[in-house]
Amino acid sequence: MERPVFLLAPMDGMTRASFRSVCFDYGADGATTEMIQSLAYGRAKKRMSATFEEVLVRYDNERNLAAQLIGSVPEMMAESARRLEALERFDAIDINMGCPARKVVGSGNGAALLCEPEKAIRVMEAVKSATALPVRLKLRLGWDGAHITAPELILAAQELGFQSVTLHGRTRAQRYSGEVDLQTMRRIIAQARIPVYANGGVTNAKDAIAFLNATGAAGVAIGRAALKQPWIFDDIARLRRGEPAPQRQAPERVTLLLRLGKLACGHRPERVAMFEMRKFCGWLLPGLTGAQEVLRRLNQVVTLEAYRALLEGYLDGLIKAGDLSLHASLMPEQTLDTV
Ligand SMILES: Cc1cc2nc3c(=O)[nH]c(=O)nc-3n(C[C@H](O)[C@H](O)[C@H](O)COP(=O)(O)O)c2cc1C
Repeated sequence: MERPVFLLAPMDGMTRASFRSVCFDYGADGATTEMIQSLAYGRAKKRMSATFEEVLVRYDNERNLAAQLIGSVPEMMAESARRLEALERFDAIDINMGCPARKVVGSGNGAALLCEPEKAIRVMEAVKSATALPVRLKLRLGWDGAHITAPELILAAQELGFQSVTLHGRTRAQRYSGEVDLQTMRRIIAQARIPVYANGGVTNAKDAIAFLNATGAAGVAIGRAALKQPWIFDDIARLRRGEPAPQRQAPERVTLLLRLGKLACGHRPERVAMFEMRKFCGWLLPGLTGAQEVLRRLNQVVTLEAYRALLEGYLDGLIKAGDLSLHASLMPEQTLDTV
């Protein structure tokens, strides 16, 4: 891919095909599925569980899409990679070595592999030799400030012929908050001979460009900020052309939520999809007049039809009142931590 690229970072429970598809509409250069548990997927019977089916959906407008595996048993990672390749649906396979959740690291997976480089490399070798698809790695700087193992693992990925690496500029000890270590990222990225995408802490388009420049990365992967501003990819493109990023008003927000709701129903039960839309509405509507009342009524909505009626009626009311802009006084603070 031409550089620089701006990618949607994987987020468990969030970055399913429906949400990714909306981000692609706004110009994301690539995305990764949420993590797939290789221990379960590698052993799954022919008829896959509904959860796997949902995670593995790909919509037509998705490009440069990697499926992400998590696990530490090389055979299961390899078998999962073979199964994913057989679906003929993904452009690459990504290995998760960043997840900090206690339950995940407690079983030796995700960020736990940062502490065991030899084991991590066996996992990487197993996946690479199991598939002809390009393989990518997503990792953190290390377990904590005293154990920065990313350079060693990135070197191994490079030697194994991995396609790229996404580097979250925090340690496992930092979880999802605290300063991203720009200096260490820059040093690691300068040494790498494969593309490294910088990740962590971007809050808006300006930030994403500053992060790119500060780290010298081949691109930036954006997580939480995209949930609240799926248009961030379009904002970035505009800023890079020297145009200002527009304020996203009611018609754009509501149309986006209608599209997302419809897409979500395409690959999970309507009731589940509608439940999920409460979160997205809670991120995208505040700042508009009457948003709180819509969010309250949304709690009763379980069908796409009712969802449509509610949002379309809401937008019609705003149009009639000529009240389409965001009001600063009604806007919540944009922080990443509230996801
Ligand atoms: C709710 C949530 C779920 C996540 N799930 C995954 C995942 O499945 N795989 C993964 O590699 N990273 C996952 N991450 C980490 C993100 O990809 C990203 O590295 C992290 O959020 C930092 O980027 P950000 O500051 O842009 O959000 C998750 C993060 C969040 C907040």
